[in-house]
This record gives sequence, structure tokens and C-alpha cells, in this order.
Amino acid sequence: MKANYSAPGKVILFGEHAVVYGEPAIAVAVDKRTTCKVVQAEEETTVNGYPIDKDYHSYILEALRCVDIDSPLKIVTKSDVPSGAGMGSSAAVTVATLASLHHISGDLKEERLAREAFNVEWTVQGSASPIDTSTSTHGNAVMLSKDKEEDFLWSISREGKEWNIHHRDIPEMQMVIGDTGVHARTGPLVDKVRRFYMNNNFAKEIIEEIGNIVIEGSKALAGENLERVGELMDRNHELLTILGVSHPKLERLVKGARKYSYGAKLTGAGGGGSMVAVTDDPEKVARVIKRRGGTPYIIDTTGEGVSEN
Ligand code: MEV
Repeated sequence: MKANYSAPGKVILFGEHAVVYGEPAIAVAVDKRTTCKVVQAEEETTVNGYPIDKDYHSYILEALRCVDIDSPLKIVTKSDVPSGAGMGSSAAVTVATLASLHHISGDLKEERLAREAFNVEWTVQGSASPIDTSTSTHGNAVMLSKDKEEDFLWSISREGKEWNIHHRDIPEMQMVIGDTGVHARTGPLVDKVRRFYMNNNFAKEIIEEIGNIVIEGSKALAGENLERVGELMDRNHELLTILGVSHPKLERLVKGARKYSYGAKLTGAGGGGSMVAVTDDPEKVARVIKRRGGTPYIIDTTGEGVSEN
């Protein structure tokens, strides 16, 4: 008995952090994937040759709690999604692992996978939204919103918030990610914004404005208006900076990339991690990112969701 599935990383175009409070957000699956191979083992469950450990394999351990498999397993993961870079590496490993485990237990469905992957992320990371896990499961582009709209996929609720997840087609556009190399953990950044949000009406207004930007961004994407997409990305970045989740290295990369882009912003939790730019000249943007000390990835956004290898 064996299973081998992979799931993609993601890039958030609009709405990170605000989405935790139920505001809308848009993310795109990228062509960087995590693979998880599972076979039955003789004695104990191992991950990449080591006994499974709650500190090193927290997402995999939590994923194992979702399935009813008694026998020990040999789990092997491989990833080209950089970790701590805002590209959804923990969601990708969670989704790929759950897919392989469910294949073994004979029960695999996209919606169920997305729901369980969100539970895993919530348990390990603390407060979260389903954006990373739903994008990694479904692939393509995904929009989360308060209301059900066209191309509705599923909804997920937690603590009084409901996220409706939709499939989105986005125009063909070229994107470059710039990884600062500064690793930042999502949980503490989400907590930082939460403290600001709980104690300050100004923070609530910023979160709401980000929500409005996502709605405008969705229209601009549907109308293939990349100038407008870029403008809105720039504004989204300024608002995230006010929320305190930018970083001097992100600012350097964003400013450099903007010279040759429609727009650029941090993507994911911030505090380091990565930025993303939409551009007609990805090579030029990649060169600027490199010159400014970042690692560029020119990405293909035709990203397939979770799939069997
Ligand atoms: C992280 O990729 C996105 C955040 O909005 C957290 C979340 O939605 O779970 C910062």
C-alpha cells in the first residue's frame, strides 16, 4: 500500500491579514510544490528517516490525527516551496500529507481535504484563515469572501466568521516573487496584527480598507486591467506596512521591483518573507531583486491543485 501526492504553494495577491477577520482575499497557486510519499512501515512512523517529532513535524503529526490508520508509516516529503517565505509551505505540506493519508484510508475529496488542512493549520499555528490551505487544495486562483458568489466551491467557518471560497480565473499575467531570506513565522505576525486590531479603531479601518481593495482588485482582474491591479497592490502594501508587518528588506525589494512593474507588495504574513510584483518584464524585475539581495522566482500561475504523482 502506498500513496504519493503533491500540493502547490501560493502567492496572495490581495488581502492577507485582513482575511483573518473575515475580509475577502485573492490568492494564486504557484508552480512550486511539496510532495508527500507514504508507505507502510514495520516498526515506527518516520518522517524523512527520523522518528516523527512534535517540534519538527507538527503539521504532519496533526494531519495524522485526522485519519484512522493504525500501522506505522514511512513518510517522505520533498518541497521546492521555500519555507518561512510567505509562499504557503506549511499549507502545501499539510495538504499533500492529508491527500496521501486519505488515499491510504481510501477516502479523498477536495472539500474535506481543505477543511481538514485548515483545522491542522489552525491547531498548529493558532488563529488563521483558510486562504493558504484552500488555495493549495484547489489550485488555480481562489477568492475568499463574506458572501457566496459565482464559482462557489465551499465554505469554512470558525469563531463566528465564515469564509466562502470560490474558484477564480485570472488573466494571463507575469509575476515575480522576491524572497528576502528573512524567515518569519506566520503565527506571531497574525498575533501582532490582532493586538493592534483589538485595541485600535484605526487598525479596524485599515483592515476594512484592505477588504475594499480586494473587491476592487477582483474587478480589475476580471477586466484584465493590470494598471489598476498594480495600483491596488501598491496601496495594499502601504496598508500592510501601517499594520506593522513589513520589513526593511521587503521595502527595498518592493521599491526596486516597482520601477519595472504594474505594482508590488509584500505577500503572505510579512515580517520578512516575500514580496510579489506583476510585470511585463519579469527578467528585469528578477535582476533588481537579486541586486538588492533577494532571491527572485519568476512564477507560472497555472498552478494545479493537489494531485497524485
Ligand atoms: C498567510 O499566508 C496569510 C495570513 O493572512 C494568515 C492567514 O490568513 O492564515 C497572514
